[in-house]
Amino acid sequence: MTRSAPKAGVIGWPVEHSLSPLIHRHWLQRHRLEGTYDLLPVAPDDIGAYLQHFCEHGLAGANVTVPHKETACRIAGKVSDLARRLGAANTLWLEDGELAADNTDVHGFVANLDERASGWDDGKTALIIGAGGAARAVIAGLADRGFDRIVIANRTLERATALLGWFAGEPAQLSAAPLDRADTFLAGADLIVNTTSAGLAGAAPLALDWSSAQATAIATDIVYVPLITPFLAGAAQAGLTHVDGLGMLLHQAAPGFRKWFGVMPDIDEELRSFVLAALAERH
Ligand SMILES: NC(=O)c1ccc[n+]([C@@H]2O[C@H](COP(=O)([O-])OP(=O)(O)OC[C@H]3O[C@@H](n4cnc5c(N)ncnc54)[C@H](OP(=O)(O)O)[C@@H]3O)[C@@H](O)[C@H]2O)c1
Repeated sequence: MTRSAPKAGVIGWPVEHSLSPLIHRHWLQRHRLEGTYDLLPVAPDDIGAYLQHFCEHGLAGANVTVPHKETACRIAGKVSDLARRLGAANTLWLEDGELAADNTDVHGFVANLDERASGWDDGKTALIIGAGGAARAVIAGLADRGFDRIVIANRTLERATALLGWFAGEPAQLSAAPLDRADTFLAGADLIVNTTSAGLAGAAPLALDWSSAQATAIATDIVYVPLITPFLAGAAQAGLTHVDGLGMLLHQAAPGFRKWFGVMPDIDEELRSFVLAALAERH
């Protein structure tokens, strides 16, 4: 490999669990490109200085994951309108020596549904469970695709209410509810999205009563470990179309790869099977 091969990686804390190196290294190999993609663990106390001196690390760019997405958005010199709208960035690159930032989670969320549940945006009413960082990307994606009534149900009601303020300028009508009232909004929802880490392998699942959901409703989870979360299993049992969260991860990764390595990578069944096999080995 020549010394000029582009280097990228994923910045997070902790970051060892990240699947991003697996995905980007697969693409590098598949597209026969020179380059590297590594784990970049940076502690919360160090992230400010790390990003301020980004051009000294020899990187073409990086992904940013929990808990640094907000800091990355604050520190980058050039921030896309979308990242600014979400207050969070997950993709960084250098532009004329300056740190530039974007958010590709919205693209990942929407592209996954476009691919696996065509017509998912025919409906106009959505129930989002969870009000963390990822919920912001989901809200933006739904608003952009014409959903005009969005209920956000969260364990900590204040966090859901705070999102109403954050998105106050959006045309969609947003409302907040406590998690234990989520069931009451199921009947009116065309799309039901889980963004909570409840149901993540090892965590207690959400207790939802799917019996009132419309038969035509679509359920999607952005958590992909396990691939079929208890949330998706409940939706499947109720006969609903359901979409897992792995595609969101794959699609959000692609724009960064193109920026750093110059090729728009393939997102296909081969990649999906490769990542699923790696996940099965890990869990
Ligand atoms: N597929 C993808 O590409 C993708 C992209 C981004 C994120 N994700 C995944 O999405 C999940 C959420 O990410 P995030 O950044 O939004 O995290 P976050 O900011 O920490 O928010 C976590 C959310 O989960 C809720 N929650 C956690 N444990 C819960 C429980 N036991 N019962 C009910 N609610 C619970 C929290 O509720 P409280 O507010 O009450 O604490 C909050 O709404 C993570 O698992 C992450 O890996 C996937």
